[in-house]
Amino acid sequence: MTDLPESPTHELSTSGVGPWIGELPEDPWFDRELLEKGDTRNVIDRYRYWTMEAIVADLDEKRHPFHVAIENWQHDMNIGSIVRSANAFGADTVHIVGRRRWNKRGAMVTDRYQHVVHHDTVADLVEWAKAENMPILAIDNVPGCVKIETFALPERCLFLFGQEGPGLSPEAIEAAEAVIEITQFGSTRSINASAAAAVTMHSWVMQHVTF
Ligand SMILES: C[S@@+](CC[C@H](N)C(=O)[O-])C[C@H]1O[C@@H](n2cnc3c(N)ncnc32)[C@H](O)[C@@H]1O
Repeated sequence: MTDLPESPTHELSTSGVGPWIGELPEDPWFDRELLEKGDTRNVIDRYRYWTMEAIVADLDEKRHPFHVAIENWQHDMNIGSIVRSANAFGADTVHIVGRRRWNKRGAMVTDRYQHVVHHDTVADLVEWAKAENMPILAIDNVPGCVKIETFALPERCLFLFGQEGPGLSPEAIEAAEAVIEITQFGSTRSINASAAAAVTMHSWVMQHVTF
């Protein structure tokens, strides 16, 4: 696939672009209806007028090899925001452990473009990670943890986050090869889980992506 050809439509704002002006392109990744009616989806300009399937296929070619997991025992409101950040930072897959249902609002429909899978229990997640030879790194500020600022994050790994209130379950901490904290400097005990996920994913990017 190539970059979007220059369209005479100039409305490249967050509210989207209008109908394609001029002869409609025939390339298979374009969605005819979007070309005709305009594209107001929450996608970067490169993907304007592309079908959802074409966007997912293009992302699949360049996803990073880290995964993100979040425990969901109490309907955690952070999950949508974590999915959105996972999409932005190019995570391979988001794993939701526990309750199947989660509040999609914060995802801003990015879940359509992000692989999201469910595991009933931490044991199921651990089994999946073992089969994939994927180290689990628990992210929480609990006794015995090490600092993310000085920790060499593996290229292939799964970051496991806890939920607001209880934090990570004992089973999750037990399953991890390391427990990693984001150093804080204020009076609050913690940052919220989606903020922690964004910081962690960006730390991985800082260690593994060459700019
Ligand atoms: C609101 S925290 C709750 C637990 C926290 N350990 C406490 O003592 O209050 C929810 C989740 O956000 C993540 N988190 C929050 N602050 C963090 C930090 N400074 N370092 C690493 N993870 C953090 C962890 O995954 C944690 O399980």
